[in-house]
Amino acid sequence: MRFVLSLVFLVPVIFRVVLCVADEDPIIRHGDIFHPTLGRGGMVVSQDAIASGVGADILSRGGNAVDAAVATGFALAVTLPQAGNLGGGGFMMLYLAEDDRTLAIDYREMAPALAHRDLFLDSAGNVDREKSRFGLLATGVPGTVAGLVHVQEKYGSLPLKEVMQPAIRLAEKGIPVSYALAFSLTRASGRLRQYPASQAYFFRGDGSSLQAGDIWRQKDLAKTLRRIADKGAAGFYQGKTADLIVAAMAAGGGLISHQDLENYRAVERQPVRGTYRGYDILSMPPPSSGGVHLVQMLNILEGWQLAPLEHNSAAYLHRLAETMRRAYADRSQYLGDPDFYPVPLARLTDKGYAGSLRQAIDLDRASNSEDIRPGVQLEEESPQTTHFAVWDDAGNVVSNTYTLNFSYGNGQAVAGAGFLLNNEMDDFSAKPGVPNAYGLVGDEANAIAAGKRPLSSMTPAIVFRDGRPVLVTGSSGGSRIITAVLQVILNYVDFGMNAAEATAAPRVHHQWLPDVLFLEKGVSRDTRDILDAMGHQLDTRAGAISRTQTITRDDGLFQGVTDYRWPGGAAVSPR
Ligand code: DON
Repeated sequence: MRFVLSLVFLVPVIFRVVLCVADEDPIIRHGDIFHPTLGRGGMVVSQDAIASGVGADILSRGGNAVDAAVATGFALAVTLPQAGNLGGGGFMMLYLAEDDRTLAIDYREMAPALAHRDLFLDSAGNVDREKSRFGLLATGVPGTVAGLVHVQEKYGSLPLKEVMQPAIRLAEKGIPVSYALAFSLTRASGRLRQYPASQAYFFRGDGSSLQAGDIWRQKDLAKTLRRIADKGAAGFYQGKTADLIVAAMAAGGGLISHQDLENYRAVERQPVRGTYRGYDILSMPPPSSGGVHLVQMLNILEGWQLAPLEHNSAAYLHRLAETMRRAYADRSQYLGDPDFYPVPLARLTDKGYAGSLRQAIDLDRASNSEDIRPGVQLEEESPQTTHFAVWDDAGNVVSNTYTLNFSYGNGQAVAGAGFLLNNEMDDFSAKPGVPNAYGLVGDEANAIAAGKRPLSSMTPAIVFRDGRPVLVTGSSGGSRIITAVLQVILNYVDFGMNAAEATAAPRVHHQWLPDVLFLEKGVSRDTRDILDAMGHQLDTRAGAISRTQTITRDDGLFQGVTDYRWPGGAAVSPR
């Protein structure tokens, strides 16, 4: 059995429980069901304990995984303002047990009609980072509401109104501010204070910072949520909410128009599929790069026996680093919105192509990223995000990652509507070869164009064995998302770790450029010495790598694990 529980796992949960039970509202008094990380009957795991409780409550009331996921998604928009959102976008992987079908829902933001390829270039042709990251020009047309409403209406079993009720109540009645939220808000306060609407929403009435234990109410957000609950997507993309967004754009020099909002659609896409040592891997296709490179990296790694090398040995980490380097080189050239650019998906996920990349790897020596060009073998073929996962007793699974891009997006709340706007336009390649905020470079495939979706690294994934899901995972962490998801899967498949162990194990990351192998604490000194001698440029100062949310199911028993690297999350099973 893979189930080993660790006490450290419960620490962030326990302090949140203490805060929650102090409140009278039954919706947020979920302290008594935070503890189980093992459960039968289903599991919800997210970065926020209250939101996980909301999802588990929906499962207890007979809702399916989609109902619980949509309830959790809207609850996070209230309880986790740094990443939970109405003003951003994301991706959802959805396994429907009865139909034995997996879907990929793309609700990524779209560039407004007035956007163009040189949007962020100054008169000298240089990228203006201020514009691509912080002003309203950085905001893409939000997709979250379209995505959540779409899946609810098509695959949910309860009315939208019912699954949105908890979020509305949390916004109206208020939530107890956790230490994690107070810390995060304080860290972002400089940016938030620049904008009167953000100052009004994310601070105390007297302008001082919210402190742990305060009750934080969001009346305007509650009204926006009500409009969505009453009218569906039209409650956001048309009428009062749309008017407020467009007014914010007019006041602050943004591009999003009524037409852009009305034109926004979530899209159902074919998942990317791969196999790895007898497991099936299904994940998000472009405009995410996550699924493609997850499968590509697994294909490369499958050619070596990893278990005998042992976890996080120098020999293992060398293979990982060289694999990651090559995948991210391809990412820079070939990945973009498939509605605008012919991504060579079949070739990139082909085992033969992976084999040719593997053969070029020197097992004793680090390569130099300057010598690795994107698509070595390809010929003429045409800081914050959040992941949550839900698994219900009937076997339906949801794996969802959504984001505002940075923590609190561009920091600008829509006056009167109570939610923050994304700065996802920085995920486009503003100019070939010039890195974005995550150090990622891109080219034509990811150039800005009207109506195009920026390339993403978000990697919601579901792993199957013999046709049944066994693990669901995903992460935040910008460019480090794909490699974090990869390592959770490798830890589970190759090293026999349970979900808790697979989460806790130290992670590494390489993304081709910069030519650096990032290591979390916990990789030993002598391992680092060997990697250094092989020619790797090591960086151990980068802190925690990504934040995963994972559920496994084994013999009908669920294990849910929120990442230990940051407090505030919880895995909750229904009563
Ligand atoms: O879509 C992407 O790849 C990025 N906008 C994700 C940003 C992110 O994960 C930041 N947080 N930790």
